[in-house]
Amino acid sequence: MAETTGEAAHDRPYFYKERLKYTPEEEAKLERQHFWKVIDAFRYYRIHVQEQIKRAERQFQSLPQHHQKLLPGVLPNLARISQCVDHNQEVLQAIVYNCIHMFENMEYGEREDPRKVRPSSTFDMDKLKSTIKQFVRDWSEVGQAERESCYRPLIQEIQRLFPSDKYDVSKVSVLVPGAGLGRLAWEIARLGYICQGNEWSFFMLFSSNFVLNRCDKVNSLTLYPWIHQFSNNKKSSDQTRAISFPDVNPQSLPPNADFSMVAGDFLEVYTESDSWDCVATCFFIDTAHNVLEYVETIWKILKPGGVWVNLGPLLYHFENMANELSIELSYEDIRAAIIKYGFRIEVERESVQTTYTENDRSMLRYVYDCVFFVARKPVHVCANGQEDNQSQNSPPAAKSPRREEADSLT
Ligand SMILES: C[S@@+](CC[C@H](N)C(=O)[O-])C[C@H]1O[C@@H](n2cnc3c(N)ncnc32)[C@H](O)[C@@H]1O
Repeated sequence: MAETTGEAAHDRPYFYKERLKYTPEEEAKLERQHFWKVIDAFRYYRIHVQEQIKRAERQFQSLPQHHQKLLPGVLPNLARISQCVDHNQEVLQAIVYNCIHMFENMEYGEREDPRKVRPSSTFDMDKLKSTIKQFVRDWSEVGQAERESCYRPLIQEIQRLFPSDKYDVSKVSVLVPGAGLGRLAWEIARLGYICQGNEWSFFMLFSSNFVLNRCDKVNSLTLYPWIHQFSNNKKSSDQTRAISFPDVNPQSLPPNADFSMVAGDFLEVYTESDSWDCVATCFFIDTAHNVLEYVETIWKILKPGGVWVNLGPLLYHFENMANELSIELSYEDIRAAIIKYGFRIEVERESVQTTYTENDRSMLRYVYDCVFFVARKPVHVCANGQEDNQSQNSPPAAKSPRREEADSLT
């Protein structure tokens, strides 16, 4: 599997509008700086969390002695958390070790003193902690139920739209923008479809590179994803429980599988018209500054007759960010715009309940009431963008004899 880089892969390091001012050289420089900033975040993790633990210890020790005596388990639990942090740091080191030359077409140079650990922002530390939790969602047995609720409806729909008894699925191309740690894209490729994941966050790209290209033994690695959560624990031990990963061998794709990951901003990388049979978005469309740009790009890159399958909420990522463009549309407005582009909505469910990197023992749990839809770009589109009613809506892949396929998410 190839890891390539497109134009840019930022974690929004600078303002949306100002980006337009940069020359290609400045862009490349910023890109390099950002690459190393994310690596610094991976290296700084231990220091950051250990500081939090020391603070918790100090707070506890400031309590009156008779209160401390009532709580004999608190300091041992903090000591246990500290061990878990050290362990997480080892995994993060392994991820970083494997990412320096991961891009086929981009070199980021060498650090003058690679051992020096530079402080990172709280923002980057939060991103790193979220990335650790993403391992639960995508590559652990604990994440199985969540994958069933999020990925299963999309995969089932792809199999219904492009069944292997009617299509040569090895010729059906599926793009997964905002692929995270790559499990959805990997599962689609495992079923025989051509599948490409696209992702722009270095946090995610480094981690997916590690799990997809460097891990080949089931449940051989451990992470402690919940140690950063000091509130809403029923038991102290809930905070320090481990997850194992990967729950499947990521190297176990069939030999003829066509699976790739491409780094970069979805809007910048995918500009070629009529290229994909299917675009599958999961918890993605609300990452846009302007979701209509995503709709427009998906419309453009889908082949005539191609389908867009989507599942997710509308938790707009830029909503509370100063100086960032953020257009927060309701689903009703997006739906109307999708139809005006010329899409035909073929399937729609407005209440699909899912979780996202859920801690199933937490006293606070979020449920997303997601929308799920299948929107087709008609085979024949009139100049006004509307469907030519005379046309057939059969997607373009060739027919072939039925091939055996695995039905379940592993
Ligand atoms: C909420 S996460 C969902 C990840 C994955 N689809 C899942 O369901 O677990 C959204 C992902 O989209 C990525 N993303 C955001 N904007 C992007 C863009 N313009 N191009 C590519 N990826 C993007 C983020 O880095 C993040 O990994």
